[in-house]
Amino acid sequence: MRLFQQIRPAPFDKLKAEPSPAEIPRALPMPLLRLDNVTKHYRADNQDVVALDAVTLDAEPGEFLSIVGRSGCGKTTLLNLAGAMDFPSAGSVHINGVVTSGLADAELTAIRRKYVGFVFQFFQLLPTLSVRENVELPLLLAGQTANTQQAIERLEWVEMADYAKRLPHQLSGGQMQRVAIARALVHSPKLLLADEPIGNLDSTSAEIVMNLLRRTADELKTTILMATHSQEAARITDRIVALRDGRIEEIRRP
Ligand SMILES: Nc1ncnc2c1ncn2[C@@H]1O[C@H](COP(=O)(O)OP(=O)(O)OP(=O)(O)O)[C@@H](O)[C@H]1O
Ligand SMILES: [Mg+2]
Repeated sequence: MRLFQQIRPAPFDKLKAEPSPAEIPRALPMPLLRLDNVTKHYRADNQDVVALDAVTLDAEPGEFLSIVGRSGCGKTTLLNLAGAMDFPSAGSVHINGVVTSGLADAELTAIRRKYVGFVFQFFQLLPTLSVRENVELPLLLAGQTANTQQAIERLEWVEMADYAKRLPHQLSGGQMQRVAIARALVHSPKLLLADEPIGNLDSTSAEIVMNLLRRTADELKTTILMATHSQEAARITDRIVALRDGRIEEIRRP
């Protein structure tokens, strides 16, 4: 449980506490994800922290982007805004054509549950649930009935179906992350946000996870934004977005 508590913020916990989904406002034709001049300020110790500063970025269906830069440059903040976990202080975030600013909490939750999947550095699997139950959980939270077949299909996608009955602690780190990816994909989100998904893995497991994410973008046409400190991982993505002090320093192709 300690690992769960270390992670800031804890979107999976937040997911549980929020009201049931509301209607999602009508979408406009747009790239799947658009950040338009997005700024995010935080208030801490009586100081104003500019975590993101006028960031503009589009991502198309099936595009795999890596977000790189020093610790504190704004990678997690960018993913949280892109995933409707939080509102920008200025500028706008469009997810599948819907602007997140001004939405009620329930509408924001509905957007996340329909369009977004999250993967974290420390996996955040629930320790008392089996692998299959962990993967099914987002369906239950979204108010759907448990769908074992859907969960097993996603476990097959990540080549973990043989482990469906195990508990998370009976898996290796790389296997846990593959299960976490199955959980993030169970509702077929258009957008997958991965915050340092290989940050806690050995190099072999990291390569397996990276290949899996690449295949997910290519074959399921999922848009992926991945924060990473690994240059090697960034190399297999389509575009590398380099942040510095909350600003986009450069966008390059590997
Ligand atoms: N809730 C918050 N309250 C106050 N400041 C925050 C908050 N969240 C982030 N920050 C600050 O915003 C800046 C960007 O933080 P962020 O977590 O996005 O960085 P990061 O690039 O993900 O770093 P890391 O590589 O260490 O994960 C940092 O200066 C951080 O201290
Ligand atoms: Mg971070």
